[in-house]
Amino acid sequence: MTISTIHRINPITETTQTIKPPITGIGKKIIITRFIMAKTMMEATRLVPCSVVILSVGTKDKRDAMTATAMFVSEKPPLLTVSVAKHILSHDLIDRTGEFVLNVASFDQVKLAAQLGATHGAKVDKFKKFKLKSLKGQHIQSPMIADAFAHLECRVITSMPAATYTVFLAEVVGHHVNRALKPVVWFDNQYYSLKSL
Ligand SMILES: Cc1cc2nc3c(=O)[nH]c(=O)nc-3n(C[C@H](O)[C@H](O)[C@H](O)COP(=O)(O)O)c2cc1C
Repeated sequence: MTISTIHRINPITETTQTIKPPITGIGKKIIITRFIMAKTMMEATRLVPCSVVILSVGTKDKRDAMTATAMFVSEKPPLLTVSVAKHILSHDLIDRTGEFVLNVASFDQVKLAAQLGATHGAKVDKFKKFKLKSLKGQHIQSPMIADAFAHLECRVITSMPAATYTVFLAEVVGHHVNRALKPVVWFDNQYYSLKSL
């Protein structure tokens, strides 16, 4: 029990009530400092430029597509990780199928990436809503999305919980690329196009 917290038994319900008196002085300073630190640490996660991928996953009866970022892990074997929020449909479908496609978003798919990142497949069939043209993968059953810079067909090797996310480590079992298109990058809450130096 902290000094500024009082526990009291409610005589009617016989439950314990916690009464927190107004925070003043040093307690207030500590809370403000913690808030500023948390905000700064959140900003820190946005300082790393990220890939923009449309993760598609599904079976014959249920499918979904979400915007995400993928990170390189190993070349041989080709391994990547994605971190997926535990409460969303894509997470359920990855758990069920053990696979997904990473459609590396092209310049022309920025609007689509923003839309797929702001809607939930549990509420709406995103393939229908956004008229997604799906293509059949060669190695896995999950659908690929047309007009992406590249399609990486992935099989999950292992996963680990991380806060409210699950980190999936996956092996790329097949890939196709359209070099006439260009990928994009997510940085500091914005999309960027790429330019060689
Ligand atoms: C650029 C961008 C990157 C994102 N990256 C991730 C990510 O790596 N992991 C994640 O869980 N959500 C990420 N999101 C949010 C999801 O795309 C969003 O929650 C989506 O609505 C989930 O779809 P679902 O509910 O149909 O599965 C990102 C959104 C944007 C716009």
